[in-house]
Amino acid sequence: MGFKTDAIHAGQEPDPATGAVTIPIYQTSTYVQEGLGKHKGFEYARTQNPTRTALEKNMAVLEGGVAGYAFASGMAATTALTQLLLKQGDHAICSDNVYGGTFRLFDKIVRHYGIEFTYINTSDLRNVEKAMRPNTRMVFIETPTNPLMSITDIRGVSELAHGADCRVVVDNTFMSPYFQRPLELGADIAVHSTTKYLNGHSDSVGGVAVLKRKEDAERLQFIQNAAGAILSPFDSWLVLRGIKTLPVRMEAHHANGMAVAQYLARKKEVRKIYYPGLPDHPGYGLAKKQMTGFGGMIAFDLGGLDRAKRFLERVKLCSLGESLGGVETLISHPATMTHASVPAEERARLGITDGLVRISVGIEDVEDVIADLENAFAALA
Ligand SMILES: Cc1ncc(COP(=O)(O)O)c(C=O)c1O
Repeated sequence: MGFKTDAIHAGQEPDPATGAVTIPIYQTSTYVQEGLGKHKGFEYARTQNPTRTALEKNMAVLEGGVAGYAFASGMAATTALTQLLLKQGDHAICSDNVYGGTFRLFDKIVRHYGIEFTYINTSDLRNVEKAMRPNTRMVFIETPTNPLMSITDIRGVSELAHGADCRVVVDNTFMSPYFQRPLELGADIAVHSTTKYLNGHSDSVGGVAVLKRKEDAERLQFIQNAAGAILSPFDSWLVLRGIKTLPVRMEAHHANGMAVAQYLARKKEVRKIYYPGLPDHPGYGLAKKQMTGFGGMIAFDLGGLDRAKRFLERVKLCSLGESLGGVETLISHPATMTHASVPAEERARLGITDGLVRISVGIEDVEDVIADLENAFAALA
């Protein structure tokens, strides 16, 4: 079936009990068993829940994997992947410009289990080749990165990693499977914060991982049950509901994102703009090859903390807040918000300056979003 059809139907048969077209929220902790060892495949809700299963099957189809597993947050999904892929003595490679919380998890928690991490600019494949070691078991990339929108060649990284016994994980949160399908490009696992575009309405926190290899899928299912950071039935239902409109929302985010990026590129107050859909973005050519749209995430530099502060305190329609991927436009200040956990020197090295502003362009009338930004630019006059 086509992507739009799968987004609405995959994993979602009419409810066998009533014929309800929408999968019910199975708000139960356990299931009655007919006798010892005799049940309908459901024993305890940490292990199996039909609402969560529907979301997991849906996401497995959309990402083209053998199975998907849903977790309590994007970070819980990534934590489970580290439990799947890494053990004491192993080495992992990570893009140096990932979501700050991912860096925090690896650097402040996982590293203490005797696992070494190397952070590199994965948009240059030579860096990946150089960083690979005999004990490298995971390459974790985010493309485009948060917040600088740098693009990594998923196929190129996968070819390098698969020369060794090493899995490639792609955080596909910014693009969603509608615009980018990492498993088709050679990666082993796609991970998402469903909190963002998949749910799309800023009313749920969750995560999902989709796997290409059966043996990885079986092990991750074991970890999901054993460690227990599952997505609730209600959140699973919200994300399923969000995914039904993912294609139309992503098209709208892309159209509005492009219009806002082109507007920002013309503003003299903007020192630098990061949007992979602009031809002078260094990753433009690669983005056109491995993505089918550029999405609604843009970062731009206003040249200093005071200027960013004045600008962000003037916006009205664009809500100042962390997170992204909702229908409403959200605007944030990475250095003090999403990336505050990245040390200041490292932020400076990466280009996450104090003047950097990130905008997640929503699907409002784009003229209204631009008028709000125009009004905020007046604060810099
Ligand atoms: C790219 C990316 N990955 C992962 C996460 C973590 O997801 P969650 O907040 O659902 O734990 C975020 C959150 O902002 C993100 O932006």
